Amino acid sequence: MGAMKCKPQAPEKNTRTRKRVARETRALYSARTRVPSPTPLELVTLEEAARVVGKTPHNIRDYIQRGRIAKYSPEGQRIVRAHNGELRVSLSELRAFLSLVAQGNERHHHAGLHPELGFYNVPERERTKHVHRLHPYLGKFIPQLVEWFLTRYFEEDAVILDPFMGSGTTLVQGNELKMHTIGIDVSEFNCRIARVKTAKYDVEKARREILDAERRVTQFSKQLTRAPDGQPPLFPEEKMERLKESLLAECNSEYLRTWFAPRALYEMLYYRRLISQYEYQDLLRIVLSRAVRSSRLVPHYDLDHAACRSEN
Ligand SMILES: C[S@@+](CC[C@H](N)C(=O)[O-])C[C@H]1O[C@@H](n2cnc3c(N)ncnc32)[C@H](O)[C@@H]1O
Repeated sequence: MGAMKCKPQAPEKNTRTRKRVARETRALYSARTRVPSPTPLELVTLEEAARVVGKTPHNIRDYIQRGRIAKYSPEGQRIVRAHNGELRVSLSELRAFLSLVAQGNERHHHAGLHPELGFYNVPERERTKHVHRLHPYLGKFIPQLVEWFLTRYFEEDAVILDPFMGSGTTLVQGNELKMHTIGIDVSEFNCRIARVKTAKYDVEKARREILDAERRVTQFSKQLTRAPDGQPPLFPEEKMERLKESLLAECNSEYLRTWFAPRALYEMLYYRRLISQYEYQDLLRIVLSRAVRSSRLVPHYDLDHAACRSEN
């Protein structure tokens, strides 16, 4: 790997001052972070919790996934996985967590980190701004965190190496700040997301390709059951049956057959087959992966247990 050309510009120039600031910050935040007792639990469904605290069920799921609030059964037992319709969260835990967040006082302050590194007030649309929304990725840095370090410690034209680049947040933000970026990741899929997020496009062409593939899948999907009224069928019945068989023959994964409704599975397989006909194939693959995540029958937090669920 080439030499890095970064120019560190630490704001506190001497070590003693830095240590003092860290000590004061730790003292300040550890004094403020007394967690209220979570009893009584006041168990509610995700939808009820979201309504009561003015969030979306998606937000509440996110807090569970990040380990900020626990999962409970309707009887109040802490559980690792919930069967259909059984998941409950504790309103008092949720309120305690949200009140810490509101004070900008949550977890990382326990570690004595810089107060600016909380980013609590950064709304979701900013945390997933521009290309970062393209594909979800659990271990993603938020772009504001990366910007904080890049603008503080590096200058334009620096070479930034991220040896664990994940979905490429550091690369994208570095490029935005006119830095040269290099990324490495052990996962081929992550490299693909990062490549797609940092590639240059003929935007009009990319748009045309995405919309064309979508139009063709929609047309295919409508004809899965029957041709729309008054229109000649795109695929005569026999041809359609052969097409469906050949699509299923390309799907040898039991997981896919468990996780998706038959129509969604056909649509995905058909879309995948179209990809080779376009120029921006990796972009279409990532779009497909994004759509596939949203159309599965199993919620994200239960993916690990999907095989067990299907046996119940
Ligand atoms: C927390 S993520 C990195 C997030 C990323 N830096 C960003 O800007 O969003 C950690 C990444 O390290 C990768 N990783 C773990 N072990 C690795 C290894 N031995 N070599 C390369 N990448 C590795 C994982 O695949 C994962 O994508």
